[in-house]
Parts: sequence; C-alpha cells; structure tokens
Amino acid sequence: MIPRVLSGIQPSGNLHIGNYLGALGNWVKIQHQYESIFCIVDLHAITVYQKPEELRSKIREIAGIFVAAGIDPEHSRIVVQSTVPAHAELAWLLTCVTPMGWLERMTQFKAKAAAQESIGDGLFQYPVLMAADILLYQANVVPVGEDQMQHLELARDIAQRFNSLYGDTFTMPATKLPSVGARIMGLDDPTAKMSKSASGSGHAVALLDPPDRIKKTIMRATTDSNPGVDFETMGPGVANLLAIFQAFSGWTDDAMRTNFSGMRYGDLKKQVAEMTISCLEPMQKRYQEITADPEYLDGILQRGADVVTPIANATVKLVKERMGIYTPAR
Ligand code: TYM
Repeated sequence: MIPRVLSGIQPSGNLHIGNYLGALGNWVKIQHQYESIFCIVDLHAITVYQKPEELRSKIREIAGIFVAAGIDPEHSRIVVQSTVPAHAELAWLLTCVTPMGWLERMTQFKAKAAAQESIGDGLFQYPVLMAADILLYQANVVPVGEDQMQHLELARDIAQRFNSLYGDTFTMPATKLPSVGARIMGLDDPTAKMSKSASGSGHAVALLDPPDRIKKTIMRATTDSNPGVDFETMGPGVANLLAIFQAFSGWTDDAMRTNFSGMRYGDLKKQVAEMTISCLEPMQKRYQEITADPEYLDGILQRGADVVTPIANATVKLVKERMGIYTPAR
C-alpha cells in the first residue's frame, strides 16, 4: 500500500515564508511519493475569534495558495476540514480518552492562553482535534514545522492509549521536518517564531506580499553587531536570514559558507530578498490566474471532500464499534 501523508494549515492570517519553508514547500516536494491529503483547518482557526467574513475569504485564499505553490490537485486532496464532519466526530471520541494533564502540558496552549483574556475550551482541546485530523486517515507521515512536534507526539500518545484500551485501531504517524527551515524566526525579533498572528509589518514576509514590500521587510531585518557574516559567532537574526536563503535555494552548507562568509549585512539581505522574491513571484502569478476562476477552486475542494469522506467515515465507524457505542445492526 502507498503510505499516506497528511498535514494542515490554519486559515487564521496571512500565510508567510515560515509556513512555506516549514510546511507547504515540503508538501509540494514529497506529495507524489504518497497518497496525500492537505487540510485547511477552519475548525482549528475558530479556537480564537475570527471575523466571519475574513475567515471565509482566508479559506479560499489558502486553497488558491496551495495550488499556486504546486500542490497537484489531480493527485493530492485539498480538504476544508469542516466539510468532512468526521473530523469533529472523531475529535470528541478521542477527547474521551485524553487525560487533561496531557493537554495542560502543551506549550502552544500555554502561550496562546497567556495572550488571551478569556480562553475558549476549544483552544484547550485543539491538539485533540489535530490528532483526529491525522488518525482519521491513518496517516503514516505528517510533514510540519518544528513548532508542531509536541502536538504530533500527543497524537501518537492518544493513538497508543486508544490502541491499548480498545485494540489495535490507529496507525502511528511519523513527524517529518524539513532539513532546513523547520523554524523560521521573526525578522523583527529573531528570538520569536515567525507567526501569522504577530502584528507589525517588519515581522513576516507574507507569501502574497509584493516584491517591494518583501525587499523592505528583509532589508530592515534585525542582525547583530558583527561587521559581517561570521558562521562561528553569528547571532539568531543572521542565522535566520541564512536559513531563509538556504531553504529557498537548496544550497549545501559548503556553498553557503563559501558564498556568505565575511559578507556585509546589507549585501546578505539583498541576496536573501532577491532569492525570496524569485521563488515567490511565480507562485503569486499562478495565484492570480487560479483565483480568477472561483469555480475551479470550489471544484477542487468538493473533489477533495468527496474522495476523503469515505476513508474518514470508515475510521469513525471502526472507532465507534471498538468503543461499544451504538451502531445500527445493519
Ligand atoms: P499553523 O497553521 O500554525 O502552521 C502551518 C504549518 O506551518 C508551520 N510553521 C512554521 N514552520 C517554520 N517556521 C515557522 N515560523 C512556522 N510557523 C508555522 C507549522 O509547523 C505547520 O506545519 N496545528 C497546526 C495545523 C494542523 C495540523 C493538523 C498540522 C491542524 N491539524 C494535522 C498537521 C497535521 C497549525 O496550527 O499550523
């Protein structure tokens, strides 16, 4: 059997180069080695308040970006999470086997909860819904950025607990990180992860930013007090710029050292900006073409849901049988 890959992105802000280098770009590279399912996780997005109109348009925008970036809709399934109700159903079933203590340990929950005045229960249950996304399809491989590793470990713990309580049911999913770019940092503050929700124009390069904005953001990036690139003593800002260049270019470590050692920061930033723009421009052009025809995207999302729904429903049926809850005789 061909192994299955599954991953997801929240439609909760502008996709940025961290999302691309940590996840989406990697999906594009590996999609044909697997049976691939990529989700736009709108039920996750609403764990913090989203303006309804913005959420609706972000979901479409992200579907367009997936295809523009190179997700092949003839091969891979692009699925809006809420269009397959089994995600929410399995999440409930898994909630009942997940100890609260496991969820209390989640660092993303702690960080997000600290930033909110009132916390919805959905934010607490968030990792269980993510486990459901993965286990619903018996995914073998989950390609994500580094920040999702703890959630993936939890998904495996939940699967293991379920399997030991009710018998072998779920496949153990493996985490797949990109070799470079698994954790892209904020350009304004390289000690914090680049994030969709962080405000401030100097923080992130969005995938749909025009070239002049990309250049401006990168040219203003925080570096350090060295006169130029020193691979032994560089600070996190310079390391981040080099990681962005290397992840986009695919250069080897040796090529990076040869080209960049001693380079002044102005020149380094110029090269990083040029590389970023040249990688994003073709995607942005395709995005404009794709979104000119809204029915094309609707068709892809409908097909995605149609293909994966039977797989998802079969898992829920099996889980219900295993747990002993009511299933009709025929
Ligand atoms: P989300 O929407 O925050 O991020 C989507 C993907 O982008 C990666 N990523 C990064 N990679 C490198 N550097 C960064 N600064 C950076 N920021 C984000 C994330 O690691 C992720 O791979 N909970 C998930 C969505 C999700 C999911 C799933 C993922 C829901 N169900 C099932 C995998 C499988 C999330 O919030 O990702």
